[in-house]
Amino acid sequence: SPSDPDLVERARKAKEKLGDKVFVLGHHYQRDEVIQFADVTGDSFKLARDAAARPEAEYIVFCGVHFMAESADILTSDDQKVVLPDLAAGCSMADMATAEQVAECWDVLTEAGIAEQVVPVSYMNSSADIKAFTGKHGGTICTSSNAKRALDWAFEQGEKVLFLPDQHLGRNTAVRDMGMSLEDCVLYNPHKPNGGLTADELRAAKMILWRGHCSVHGRFSLDSVNDVRERIPGVNVLVHPECRHEVVAAADYVGSTEYIIKALEAAPAGSKWAIGTELNLVRRLANRFAPEGKEIVFLDKTVCFCSTMNRIDLPHLVWALESLAEGNLVNRIEVDKETEAFAKLALERMLALP
Ligand code: 13P
Ligand code: SF4
Repeated sequence: SPSDPDLVERARKAKEKLGDKVFVLGHHYQRDEVIQFADVTGDSFKLARDAAARPEAEYIVFCGVHFMAESADILTSDDQKVVLPDLAAGCSMADMATAEQVAECWDVLTEAGIAEQVVPVSYMNSSADIKAFTGKHGGTICTSSNAKRALDWAFEQGEKVLFLPDQHLGRNTAVRDMGMSLEDCVLYNPHKPNGGLTADELRAAKMILWRGHCSVHGRFSLDSVNDVRERIPGVNVLVHPECRHEVVAAADYVGSTEYIIKALEAAPAGSKWAIGTELNLVRRLANRFAPEGKEIVFLDKTVCFCSTMNRIDLPHLVWALESLAEGNLVNRIEVDKETEAFAKLALERMLALP
């Protein structure tokens, strides 16, 4: 829907007043009405780096979700303030792994006698607490674009990986990119005693996958792939690795948000694409590439936004910018010092990956 012209004008004015003091980051899944005010757009990893590369900006307004704002706070200097325009913009996947649950899991691994062999690898889409756990136990963070490199590194450090919190990215990377079998992976369910696994099952596993998933990407099904192939002959199916294994196995191409954008930029005129990722991004890409004769459709028939990403809307952005312009620091996301130190260790291991 077109943005309210009054709000557009107010956002523009507040941003102008703040000048270089503010830097607005927009994740690819954000609404158009918000993206128009982003100084840069990108995936969660790129945005965290972009924030760190702007030391002159006193305020980083993060249009994305909570774990991204935390990562930006960890990677920026202490006097830079990261602001999330709506504090309710969380991530259901990140919420599926709490610090208590992960500490309990480590106890289970210790009791099974395998904790020393296990290297934690945590997806960027996790809380600062989980990143700190990862750093403390010798592990690294990964994103959807460097998951294979992170796993290669982890298997040089130990014999087993505990992958948090997205089972699908973990399984897809292990099976698709690393040549492991589905039997090499076990699923740790934090809601069951001992994760629902026996000590023998844990000892036999190479990949211990946390039972988390993305509520958006988890909705794509094998049926959606089969349907679109029937509807659009010759279509290329391109999906995000947060999709379920059978969807990824049936797709033509698999990759992160940035990969998807690059693949479409390189696609020839006349080609047809069905994309399995968040709808705000797919719609923007469809509009952007339509004039070049590239037909881009959403992989599913039902509408599928990320509801928490969508919480950041123009009214919230205007409120945050106007508050900052009046000297009121609102909705600051600040990670405590100890958590930050260990989380940073894990993030820096990722940045040092070959
Ligand atoms: P990226 O931003 O790393 O592409 O991850 C996708 C996602 O689900 C973000 O919330
Ligand atoms: Fe979390 Fe999925 Fe939304 Fe990304 S798209 S913020 S992983 S729920």
